[in-house]
Amino acid sequence: MSALFSPFTLKDVTLRNRIAVPPMCQYSATDGFVNDWHQVHYAQIARGGAGLVIVEATAVSPEGRITPGCTGLWSDEHTAGMAQIAASIKAAGAVPGIQIAHAGRKASANRPWEGDDHIAASDARGWETIAPSAIAFGANLPQVPRAMTRDDIARVQQDFVAAAQRALAAGFQWLELHFAHGYLAQSFFNVDANRRDDEYGGSLAGRSRFLLETLAAVRKVWPQELPLTARFGVIEYDGRDEETLAASVALVKQMRAGGLDMLNVSVGFSTPQANIPWGAGFLAPVAERVRREAELPVASSWGIDAPHIAERVVANGQMDLVMVGRAHLANPHYPYQAAKQLELKDPSWVLPAPYAHWLERYRVQE
Ligand SMILES: Cc1cc2nc3c(=O)[nH]c(=O)nc-3n(C[C@H](O)[C@H](O)[C@H](O)COP(=O)(O)O)c2cc1C
Repeated sequence: MSALFSPFTLKDVTLRNRIAVPPMCQYSATDGFVNDWHQVHYAQIARGGAGLVIVEATAVSPEGRITPGCTGLWSDEHTAGMAQIAASIKAAGAVPGIQIAHAGRKASANRPWEGDDHIAASDARGWETIAPSAIAFGANLPQVPRAMTRDDIARVQQDFVAAAQRALAAGFQWLELHFAHGYLAQSFFNVDANRRDDEYGGSLAGRSRFLLETLAAVRKVWPQELPLTARFGVIEYDGRDEETLAASVALVKQMRAGGLDMLNVSVGFSTPQANIPWGAGFLAPVAERVRREAELPVASSWGIDAPHIAERVVANGQMDLVMVGRAHLANPHYPYQAAKQLELKDPSWVLPAPYAHWLERYRVQE
């Protein structure tokens, strides 16, 4: 019996296997609205057989987009297109999830293949960025953000709540709060990005406040029976890893107490100076530590797509779900490929029937 292909239940939601597609921005929306690209992309990936498909970082407000091509849920008009995506993911047998996000000081950037840098101040496509403090990320993202007022903080938290309500109305059954990757929430937690002297900065409690309050506000509107998860960078690889990990675990424990159902363990990406030890499954031991110490189910990604590694990290209890990103872009039928490589008996069940007949059953009968 394969661990990777065993079902997983969280709250009232059961995934058909432990393969999840993590959020992956397509940078192809206009004014936050999805289009044919997104409709085909998500339906195609869900038909591949993953248990969970999480729609890309979707901005809770226009200034929360990473690029002008990012999707949004900041108005009721955005809901219909997302509802179609959720329905097609569901029709393919996967659970539809969505990540809601605010990019903070990393917002107002060009698409990755158009520079991946801040849009020039002289360019009308750009906008003012906001963050806990007026400190730029640096490197390719030099724009200095405006330090958020208390009103800004309350407004963004309300934007998260409204976006969560729209995600629910659109039919999503799994919500992921984007608290990672150097975007707004991660910046509140990060000691270098957050230099505030009010109750949203300073101590660990102060730097955790924005995240815990946002989680609590969303939990009130997101149904108890549906998974509410977050992606958070528990480590920066900036030379202070033990300290950051201990503080992160302390925060995750509080999140669990505040109603978080699972953590998608990731890297902080708060500094361009990080020294990340890229390598197959490098985050797996970190995910396992968070799972053990915070006593919360975890998922993780970053190079866990070799099927035997994906199988192993679930089988040995390092994580509950494996997020497989780029391998799904290369081959939406990654789960079929994985099932074959793991030598599962008759992997045809991973495929939709109109494909399975020709690729497996018909071939077997030849
Ligand atoms: C095209 C692309 C877009 C991404 N967009 C997001 C995103 O919207 N939100 C997020 O949390 N991570 C995003 N990521 C990171 C992925 O979710 C994932 O963690 C990463 O690709 C590593 O997993 P992999 O090695 O299986 O690809 C993105 C990655 C790629 C390649």
